[in-house]
Amino acid sequence: MHHDLERILIDRDEIALRVHELGEQIARDLLGELEREGSPPDASGRIVLVPIMVGSVIFLADLMRQLPMKLSLGLVAVTSYPGQSTTSKGAQLRSELPADLSGKHVLIIDDILDSGRTLAMIRSLILEQNPASCRICVLLDKQTERAEEVPVDYAGFSIPDAFVVGYGLDYDGHYRNLPDIGVLRVEEA
Ligand code: IMP
Ligand code: MG
Repeated sequence: MHHDLERILIDRDEIALRVHELGEQIARDLLGELEREGSPPDASGRIVLVPIMVGSVIFLADLMRQLPMKLSLGLVAVTSYPGQSTTSKGAQLRSELPADLSGKHVLIIDDILDSGRTLAMIRSLILEQNPASCRICVLLDKQTERAEEVPVDYAGFSIPDAFVVGYGLDYDGHYRNLPDIGVLRVEEA
């Protein structure tokens, strides 16, 4: 699989370090929310992670294990790069949104912020449910023009405008299991 990469952009050790840092920061902020509202630090039912499937699956698994408090998961599935596309075709919801987010502290998690359409859509649907707070965490922030502005609270790495795969990110369904993140080699026609 590594042969299909033009270059590795971020290796597994860098990712692990950064995910650890993000986890510490997020844990601090969420525990701060509980303290402000007078909930004990182990209060159940207050914190809900909303990962955007499938791309965020590996990031989610690593990040959530850095969060030492009670929390639950509400998955949401979105596709924007159907099949062999490397440009966004617009975000489409493929699952129901988690219900009962009213009054909860929500953390939306995605692999990468590109045009912003996916996160803008999910965020506005979640805000309709009146959560107590709603934050966004992305592993990668692609330096490109946004179609929609998104208030991102936590970003792991800023990356150039290239199509990347690995650590959950796919091309045509493949490469999600690469432990590193790399730029896909473009085949000469
Ligand atoms: P946006 O809606 O354009 O911001 O795109 C975000 C979604 O597109 C992410 O959740 C990813 O699943 C996917 N995506 C964006 N850029 C890439 C990339 O470089 N490689 C793989 N998937 C990507
Ligand atoms: Mg995605």
